[in-house]
Amino acid sequence: MSNVIIIGSQWGDEGKGKIVDLLSQQANMIVRFQGGNNAGHTVMFGDKTFILHLIPSGILHENTKSVIGNGMVVDPGELLKEIAGLMEMGIDCRGRLFISDAANLIMPYHRLLDGAREARLKANKIGTTGKGIGPAYEDKVGRCGIRFADIENNSVFKEKIDLFVSDKNMILKHVLNYTGPYLDSDQVFEELNQFYSKLSPYICDTTELVAREIEQGNHVLFEGAQGTFLDIDHGTYPFVTSSNTVAGGACNGGGVGPTQIDRIAGVVKAYTTRVGEGPFPTELFDDIGRFLGKEGNEFGATTGRPRRCGWFDAALLKKAIRVNGITDLAITKLDVLDKLETLKICVAYEDSQGKRYDTLPSKQSIQKDLTPIYEELPGWNAVSSRITVYDDLPENAKKYIARIEELLGVSACIISTGPKREETIIRSELF
Ligand code: GDP
Ligand code: IMO
Ligand code: MG
Repeated sequence: MSNVIIIGSQWGDEGKGKIVDLLSQQANMIVRFQGGNNAGHTVMFGDKTFILHLIPSGILHENTKSVIGNGMVVDPGELLKEIAGLMEMGIDCRGRLFISDAANLIMPYHRLLDGAREARLKANKIGTTGKGIGPAYEDKVGRCGIRFADIENNSVFKEKIDLFVSDKNMILKHVLNYTGPYLDSDQVFEELNQFYSKLSPYICDTTELVAREIEQGNHVLFEGAQGTFLDIDHGTYPFVTSSNTVAGGACNGGGVGPTQIDRIAGVVKAYTTRVGEGPFPTELFDDIGRFLGKEGNEFGATTGRPRRCGWFDAALLKKAIRVNGITDLAITKLDVLDKLETLKICVAYEDSQGKRYDTLPSKQSIQKDLTPIYEELPGWNAVSSRITVYDDLPENAKKYIARIEELLGVSACIISTGPKREETIIRSELF
């Protein structure tokens, strides 16, 4: 048996959905442990494309169980839509999807607060997905969140909702200059109970299920969302999301002890992208940046926003290896680089005073002004797209991968050469 955590090693959208789907062929249970429907995980096979936001990407494999862990924030209306959408595409979640009773809910006021705050921040905005993620996590930590386990159709719970709705309406009006429409507490209460009654067959203490699966010697896969540099502690704060996206988050957000984890796979794009605001030292504003965006079809799977693109950043990745304890790499989108004459890898940074940094420093004002120090490698100007055997890759593509492995001190067990399940090179098994 082995239990594996899959996390994003950059700023999200590394191709976690594809890798999780691929590994789910061997896994018995897949657990999402943080984030919410800010995530957009794409899975493609045959002529079908699925974008999962809340439900683990493993759901597409009939024999797996999927868990929405306690560390997630769940918008119940969006979850019901996702369940219905999967049903329309022939995927039945009944009896296979389990929602933690300890997961906190994203309430309608969280979405309003997210939008109103971003509008007020103007030039200093984070560029959130607008799904209410930050406000929901704030209420969780502030002990005024609502967990699935706490929903009741009675007057005591109604009083709580009345209080929360009136507090948030006040903040929206008097602090954030939001001009309405405002929320009606009766409506919020009623809708919440409707959602709850539809979702209740799926709700349970998922930590017991995960523990049982591990006891039975089955394979459990923990599916991260977002990426290491969007982590609330280790990311490019404040331009981050509001959860722990790093591997450690799988333990508290999935309800397992660190001793149960065998391997940690970091998914990493063969170049770098970011969506939303914040520092991005290797960002390209030239034709190559536009080429990567076009060739890689770099548009957000959740918001449709164009992703910012740049060269591979090994200095950034060194920190990701450290804070996650990554044991294996899964390198994706190698095929996107096929037509480039020359490639660059950032190995360190220099600030405006000429001071060198081997990895990303924490200070915002320094992060903003770093100049990358690049190493140049020849491109391969040949097709790597859809190759499934490592030895068949163009020589320079192999050299590019080898240099990344050497710089990071970790081997790539998976190399992805196209969006589809079968467009993959497996060099060693994770399970
Ligand atoms: P996630 O959030 O990490 O799951 O990644 P997204 O689904 O948001 O974005 C990754 C995008 O790249 C999706 O459109 C995938 O279909 C696509 N993709 C994944 N792996 C590859 C690959 O190796 N090559 C190409 N060309 N596309 C890929
Ligand atoms: P997946 O799982 C890329 C970014 C947003 C914004 C910041 C905060 O598909 O990789 P939030 O709505 O979470 O408060 O936004 O985080 N962001 C993502 N970027 N991929 C994601 O998820 C993201 N989820 C959030 O763009 O910069
Ligand atoms: Mg995504």
